[in-house]
Amino acid sequence: MSTFYLTTPIYYVNARPHLGHACTTIMADAMCRYRRLAGDRVYFLTGTDEHGERIAQVAAAAGKSPQAYADEIAGVFRDTWRRLGITNDDFIRTTEPRHRKVVQEILQRLHDAGEIYFGEYGGWYCYGCERFYTEKEIVDGKCPDHQTALTFIKEKNYFFKMSRYQAWLIKHLEDNPGFIQPDRYRNEVLGFLREPLQDLSISRPRSRLQWGIPLPFDDQYVTYVWFDALINYYSAVSDGRERTRGLWEHVEHLIAKDILKPHGVYWPTMLKAAGIPLYRRLNVHGYWSLGGSKMSKSVGNVVEALQLTDKYGHDAFRYFLLREMNFGLDASFSEEALVDRLNADLANDLGNLASRATTLIAAAGPAAPVGAPAEAADRDIAVAAADARAAVEQAMRDFAFQKALGALWSFIGTVNRYVDTSAPWALAKDPARRPRLERVLCTLADSLGFLGIMLDPFLPDAARKIREALGRSEPPALEAAVVGQLSTVPRVSKISGLFPRIDTKTPRSGPLPKGERESSTLSPGVRGQGEGSRKIPITDFQKVELRVAEVLAAERVAKSRKLLKLTIRVGEETRTLVAGVAEHYEPENLVGRKVVVVANLEPATLMGVESNGMVLAAEHEGTLSLLTLDKDLPSGAKVK
Ligand code: MSP
Repeated sequence: MSTFYLTTPIYYVNARPHLGHACTTIMADAMCRYRRLAGDRVYFLTGTDEHGERIAQVAAAAGKSPQAYADEIAGVFRDTWRRLGITNDDFIRTTEPRHRKVVQEILQRLHDAGEIYFGEYGGWYCYGCERFYTEKEIVDGKCPDHQTALTFIKEKNYFFKMSRYQAWLIKHLEDNPGFIQPDRYRNEVLGFLREPLQDLSISRPRSRLQWGIPLPFDDQYVTYVWFDALINYYSAVSDGRERTRGLWEHVEHLIAKDILKPHGVYWPTMLKAAGIPLYRRLNVHGYWSLGGSKMSKSVGNVVEALQLTDKYGHDAFRYFLLREMNFGLDASFSEEALVDRLNADLANDLGNLASRATTLIAAAGPAAPVGAPAEAADRDIAVAAADARAAVEQAMRDFAFQKALGALWSFIGTVNRYVDTSAPWALAKDPARRPRLERVLCTLADSLGFLGIMLDPFLPDAARKIREALGRSEPPALEAAVVGQLSTVPRVSKISGLFPRIDTKTPRSGPLPKGERESSTLSPGVRGQGEGSRKIPITDFQKVELRVAEVLAAERVAKSRKLLKLTIRVGEETRTLVAGVAEHYEPENLVGRKVVVVANLEPATLMGVESNGMVLAAEHEGTLSLLTLDKDLPSGAKVK
């Protein structure tokens, strides 16, 4: 069993919790749930950053004392995390005595060691970031993060001799490539360190700012907010005498790129100077933008975005954040994209699988040990499960949530296809095939059990429902996520509406191009076709030219999640068509396959790509299956 101590940034109490805060906290929660699932001892810390100029100003504007104001907003953060099902073990506030005590001890220690001196500094300061910017960092005279004017501040203050650690920090980063990840942020910190590193002003005169922790060696000054805030990670687990319950040496931080410099430069140098072991790893994610514009820390719509979690459910919201953001890179948030993911991945892929599988198993009833042995198709599912688990384990080492979920959804796709090809409903009609039916149902129950464990960190509510439906009351454990060991069909209760589909016919606002939205009914020729039972003369049908086509190449259509561009050969002719199957088939799996197309459709342009024809597929409860041939025939062959 290893120990894992993970922190989120402590959030400023001058704003209410919003999408950005929720993203980091949810990522941390998913990681901590995963490590608990893996059997590790986990300590998960979040909290609030309550001192500093800006908070004093906001409190004054609200006619409250800074403490009363901080109490109120810290309460809102705490309640929000509880409502979202966040499993933090601790919530630290920088106004707590346990924190204040450790900050003062560290300051005294650094002062005694000659690491702090009194001096004067003038520079451009951003109150939003609570830090000075160097000439190089300033963009058009403004703060690069807030895009607001900077204030020139010149005053006497205490300084930490940060500059003396520049060479040491560069060497540490070079010797420990994984210290800051992903690599781009390690490089960014090395970039900062190519400029001469200045000493860090760590105090503010009390004559100007009362709201802070007094310096233990000069009560006319309070501690600079970053110097105060960073220490929270240590003060939360330390008893002030360097005893940290065996946690500190395992600490990893999770932040977004906006606060890379304090975490990548100030914090390691502070720790080094104070003789405290460095953190294990700094994990840095990108920024969410809303509808294309950079999400400012002061914009109200980011708060609104968080309300979507009540509208669509915590699991769906959580899934979207984890799946859509490539760890380390920026991502764009929209309600429309969230609903698309909810419908495609959660309602269709997972929801349908859970409901189909439990309905089939419940209908057949539990069985004594299954008589029929596993066939190749069953063994393939076991292998797919083992592969998915290995991919999740690998991805979670680096906080690559999107990759972990990609692997699990590829497994879900495999199981959905297994249901289609093994056709348990057909087996159920033939009593002689009962043993095979039971084996198929056993494989399905096993697969659901696997998902009930593996999805736990990402979709805790849905995973719990799946486990409950299978009658599994024991806490989930990663080591039990194995397919192929079940030998009886268990008793299950039916799961229905795990993720109800959201109707997208009513227009929603959002930046997705119109064509993309319409294409949801465009698995060319599948959904929406053949509705109603009006009879047509055969001559009408004969107008449609159906042909066998061979897929020569397939690729995703840029900016579309639903569409693939296929290059097909129909007899002698090669042409391009666009098929709405991207959520059901990986492009590389289509190459070389023979499909059936409507060959005489008028061309249409979809997402800028010309489509000449339509691929036929069948659809049932969100699962899509391409029409293929059961004997090989040349491309161009007529279908009638
Ligand atoms: N109080 C400091 C952190 C001190 S940590 C010792 C602070 N607080 S903050 O309230 O501004 O929170 C910043 C953090 O909120 C980011 O690092 C990130 O975790 C989260 N996010 C805020 N906006 C975000 C986005 N638009 N996108 C992603 N995460 C964002 O800085």
